[in-house]
Amino acid sequence: MKAIVQRAYGTADVLKLEEIDRPVVGDDDALIRVRAAAVNHADLVYTTGRPLIARLAFGMRAPKDIVRGKDVAGTVEAVGSGVSGLKPGDEVYGELVSGSFAEYAVAPAARLALKPANLTFEQAATVPLSGMTALQGLRDAGSLKGGQRVLVNGASGGVGSFAVQVAKALRAEVTAVASARNAELVRSWGADHVVDYGRENFTLGTARYDLILDLIGNHTLTQLRGVLTPTGTLVLSSGTGGRVLGPMGRILAAAVTSPFVSQTLSLFTQSGTSKTLDDLRHLIESGQVTPAIDRTYPLAHVAEAVRYFADEHARGKIAISV
Ligand SMILES: NC(=O)c1ccc[n+]([C@@H]2O[C@H](COP(=O)([O-])OP(=O)(O)OC[C@H]3O[C@@H](n4cnc5c(N)ncnc54)[C@H](OP(=O)(O)O)[C@@H]3O)[C@@H](O)[C@H]2O)c1
Repeated sequence: MKAIVQRAYGTADVLKLEEIDRPVVGDDDALIRVRAAAVNHADLVYTTGRPLIARLAFGMRAPKDIVRGKDVAGTVEAVGSGVSGLKPGDEVYGELVSGSFAEYAVAPAARLALKPANLTFEQAATVPLSGMTALQGLRDAGSLKGGQRVLVNGASGGVGSFAVQVAKALRAEVTAVASARNAELVRSWGADHVVDYGRENFTLGTARYDLILDLIGNHTLTQLRGVLTPTGTLVLSSGTGGRVLGPMGRILAAAVTSPFVSQTLSLFTQSGTSKTLDDLRHLIESGQVTPAIDRTYPLAHVAEAVRYFADEHARGKIAISV
């Protein structure tokens, strides 16, 4: 099969189209004929091997898993002996451990669900990682309730595009932080207020928020806590951070501070589950959430897609057509 293979860390140029064997399906897995994939920050971390701490898990000199891509949408080709909820022919979407930039991929069945019926494969493939980050970050880590004021920092990117829509679906009042060129776009996703980060620093404003979902990491914890209500919640979903530790320094600082303040500082990592994908499917099929695709690239042009993503100015998601 054709796949995008990475044999060294570096720029997007290390991502090459090669012919390799199909993956083997394990007992709890499904083999998927991939129809579409999508680009995520995780693909960039794998490609560059930065922050360096990530190499402890990925492989010190080169990645152990050589096929890139985590988000997938496609058709089930075969299932392992321990899988009961899926069968060949099912159209699914979900998150892989690795390997969706390929014609075939294997995923744990527990991280797959039936694809939303009203989406193309390209649209569906953009949902899993970013959509689950938005839903779990706001609803689960952030305990968002209807009527609360939420601020999404980084609202026009992949995760932000889902976060704005999910927050509206949960009946929150949403402030989106985005650049001027994306103001209308985030309004079209439902944002009630837009802060243009090029002109205004929201941490110096008078508005107070019950929940902040921070997808950028460009303000200190003290600055962010300053615009939270006394019992508000800060969900730290990353930021890029330094070359060695990435966002870990900031996350550790939040862990140390959290027990001593009235606000909740939530250190959050999304975890792919069929249940969360089912919840997203309901939001999508009811028209409350619609994936926003900036660009779509063919499989052979994944390096170009990752290069575009690395510029950090995508508007919504980048899809890969397989
Ligand atoms: N915790 C988890 O489990 C988890 C899971 C997935 C992703 N993440 C993290 O979430 C973060 C966002 O991921 P993503 O996929 O959404 O990235 P992305 O698609 O690259 O989004 C970047 C967006 O940020 C905007 N932006 C750039 N500088 C900004 C600033 N100073 N203030 C506000 N917005 C700014 C850009 O808009 P302009 O073009 O207008 O500048 C762009 O739309 C990443 O750091 C990633 O690691 C965490």
